[in-house]
Amino acid sequence: MRERYVVIGNPIAHSRSPQIHAMFAQATGQELAYDAVLAPLDGFAATLARLVAEGVRGSNVTLPFKTEAFRASDAPSERARLAGAANTLTFHDGKIAADNTDGIGLVRDLTINLGVTLAGKRVLLLGAGGAARGVIDSLLQTEPAELVIANRSAGKAEALADQFGGRLRARSIAALADGAFDVLINATSAGLQDAAPELPGGCIAPGAFAYDMVYGKGETPFMKRARAQGAQAGDGLGMLVEQAAESFRIWRAVAPQTAPVIAALRRQLPAA
Ligand code: ATR
Repeated sequence: MRERYVVIGNPIAHSRSPQIHAMFAQATGQELAYDAVLAPLDGFAATLARLVAEGVRGSNVTLPFKTEAFRASDAPSERARLAGAANTLTFHDGKIAADNTDGIGLVRDLTINLGVTLAGKRVLLLGAGGAARGVIDSLLQTEPAELVIANRSAGKAEALADQFGGRLRARSIAALADGAFDVLINATSAGLQDAAPELPGGCIAPGAFAYDMVYGKGETPFMKRARAQGAQAGDGLGMLVEQAAESFRIWRAVAPQTAPVIAALRRQLPAA
């Protein structure tokens, strides 16, 4: 029987992960099954136990269970520990190993697919929730000249900066004027309400790139706002595929090509 992998979330019906992993499997000649599993909001642990008992080999985990997935693990990786969350679980000999591939997915999409330099640049991360925390360590590893985290409520950004030993600076969004950032990354959930964080005048450097960690129909509100203020902009579709590729590599020891998969998904998205 083909080895089975799943993605667990709630909601999960619109997850692209089964399609992405099916494309990876076909392209790399790997025999595997991958399907989406809806867990009740209060039933992540029970769902996980059932899947392990059924012989599932690994699981991606998406909202709202990434923190629970981390806590369920006997063996979290360093990057899962720093993120306080896991999106990739591997089941082996009754043990659950946890990893987090979101940060490397973001960095690979920016630097490899989009050709954006992070090393030596002034980088701004907007938002201080789980999505932001998940990518901080990977961003720091690219050795930006400076990483600033900004949030509407500055206290949450300060708490995150403290957790990372002060290797990034915290600001309130309102205090970003004249920051002249080269790369701006939106990790807020504002897009869910069709909104975008404010970008005070002067916070975008000439030639800057603005990246939205989410994607949707056409440009996101954040991309529109950043473009209107002079930046180039991109959405998070490539990050979605890159984080999946790193999960696939962890499970199957094969790194799939991502460009054809990103292109295929892009063709399926309505333009606006
Ligand atoms: P996630 O796991 O997606 O990060 P979260 O933990 O609920 O979700 O965090 C949401 C983040 O988006 C927070 O940083 C939030 O800012 P506050 O802490 O000030 O609430 C940010 N956010 C949500 N809506 C926003 C908006 N309209 N403008 C700016 N930031 C917003």
